[in-house]
Amino acid sequence: MNKFKYSRIGTSSLIHNSPFPVTTIDKIIPYLKVEGKGTVIDIGAGKGHFTEKIVTAKGFQGVVVEIDNYLTQGIDSKQITVVNEDAAKYLLRLDVHTFECSICFGSAHIFGGFYNTISELNRITKENGFIIVSELTWKSQPTTEFLGKLGISTDVYNPDIKNRKICADLDFDIVYTEKVEKRDWDIFEETFLQNILQYCHNNTEDKDIDWLKTRAAFWKDLYDTEVTKYLDCNLYVLRKRTPNKV
Ligand SMILES: C[S@@+](CC[C@H](N)C(=O)[O-])C[C@H]1O[C@@H](n2cnc3c(N)ncnc32)[C@H](O)[C@@H]1O
Repeated sequence: MNKFKYSRIGTSSLIHNSPFPVTTIDKIIPYLKVEGKGTVIDIGAGKGHFTEKIVTAKGFQGVVVEIDNYLTQGIDSKQITVVNEDAAKYLLRLDVHTFECSICFGSAHIFGGFYNTISELNRITKENGFIIVSELTWKSQPTTEFLGKLGISTDVYNPDIKNRKICADLDFDIVYTEKVEKRDWDIFEETFLQNILQYCHNNTEDKDIDWLKTRAAFWKDLYDTEVTKYLDCNLYVLRKRTPNKV
């Protein structure tokens, strides 16, 4: 089975793969104050919606880095370059301070968590540029049982307060931050499940149907009972601090 199949089907009717509403980017764009035109890079970009919006709103050039080429097939803009490869390897080939805006929205796992992601983006972002990151955060101390169900250790995510400290330690100001609303997260999870069930309903010959249904039911049950008890989903818009002149 294609390793991206579950997520491709689950997000088939969605513009992006995040519990934040798609309109979130419209709130962020006014904070991206740079002189003239620039370049935005989106890492683990999915269908590239954020880049499309920024390119259109600000006249930027865009680079969309997404390992699953199926997701980027709909991108049709001369201003956007699509890179279908492992972002961690691709970034190694980039020069320092290349981009006015670097995005990693829900894809911090690529670099092994929040700290590493901000560090990587810091390297490729211009001194006067912006970083946009979204990541799950611990709302309360997870139980061993819950961690076992997710198959992760506690240090995969941080509490929001630790993320804020990481930003400050790496010399960034948070110019905008937001936590996903429970109602929006509910809608996202419900839509994802409905897409899986609709696919199974329409494709009764598919040999993966049982696996898809079981995985979707397991996650929806976990979401309904425990996920939002232990987890939040945050976004941060960061700008590098300017050095004091005195
Ligand atoms: C949670 S989704 C977020 C997608 C997108 N940022 C959005 O908001 O719609 C994570 C994305 O990262 C992509 N991805 C995972 N590992 C990757 C890697 N090593 N390099 C590039 N993309 C990767 C996945 O295919 C998926 O589209």
